[in-house]
Amino acid sequence: MSILEHWHPVTSIRSLKKGPIGVKIDGQEIAVFRTKSGALGALADACPHRRMRLSLGRVQGEKLMCHYHGWTFDCEGQGESPGTPKMHACTKAYEVKQAHGYVWVREAGSETEFPQFDIDGFLYIGSTEHQAPAPLELTLDNFCEIEHTPTVHAVFGYELNKMHEVQVKFETTEKTVRVINHGPAKRINPILARLIGIRRGYEFWDDWTTHFSPVHSIYDHWWIDPQTGKESKVRWRVYIFFTPVEANLTRVTSFTFAKSRWPFGPAGGLRPFRWLMRKHLRREIGLDLHILKGLASHNPSIEGMKLSRFDKALGLNRERIERIYRKKSDTRQELTLISG
Ligand code: FES
Ligand SMILES: [Fe+2]
Repeated sequence: MSILEHWHPVTSIRSLKKGPIGVKIDGQEIAVFRTKSGALGALADACPHRRMRLSLGRVQGEKLMCHYHGWTFDCEGQGESPGTPKMHACTKAYEVKQAHGYVWVREAGSETEFPQFDIDGFLYIGSTEHQAPAPLELTLDNFCEIEHTPTVHAVFGYELNKMHEVQVKFETTEKTVRVINHGPAKRINPILARLIGIRRGYEFWDDWTTHFSPVHSIYDHWWIDPQTGKESKVRWRVYIFFTPVEANLTRVTSFTFAKSRWPFGPAGGLRPFRWLMRKHLRREIGLDLHILKGLASHNPSIEGMKLSRFDKALGLNRERIERIYRKKSDTRQELTLISG
């Protein structure tokens, strides 16, 4: 099976304003475009004539026109050559969808489910896109443990000298891996602390579930006063999608939402602070990806790593990536055989 059978976010709707865009998923290049009437198209990014990139072409009405000899293709991939009108020249078309300000693509005719967004009562804060210089597994590893948060992060996470107090729990189903952590919160910028409604001594709670069709994690972040059990005024919910671009490159696309209990108007007064929250989130994800540049090896295997009590999700994720995302059905049997 191709991993393209799962829905992947590929580019923001806004980015298509200037014309077609070339994107890549697992080495496959795709030209994404928006027609004059607003329909979305996604075609293999190589013209069937002489392989010019269709993403370098331009939209003409409801079609994408190749830059080289002017052949045109509709959203279904049906092509026409001005010089040889009777020739049948079609190209591969993908299924496209618009959701949460993004274009999503999958192989035509697949039956995978679209990822669920459970965001009732949450305000949309914004989306970000980054490129991680690492394979899918190693990128996801970074986003599935909190031991790096004291040293790498500025807002989310724990104090290094109190890491031994942090509790971590894992829950799994056939299709998901859930990790729940809580412990003494790291000190954060006082303005942000005020906005979130936390004081010194609060615990940071981090609860996320990773799904594998496509590979994405849904993070809930909040803070609690351990003395009173009182929760912070603001809760974050972040959806992060991990899309392999090629062997050593992974696109990280995030969609952030937040909920406020401040009694200040609609959305709990969060609206004017969305830029600040976006800025912090962009920075936090950037810090994650920056650290990945320092990996000495891009081997995605966990064999030979000395894993800590926070790293249990790494193996659980790999098994599900192989079985659900890459659809290699005999993975579990192989893993059982290896482990004896
Ligand atoms: S290469 Fe596209 S029209 Fe010739
Ligand atoms: Fe991180």
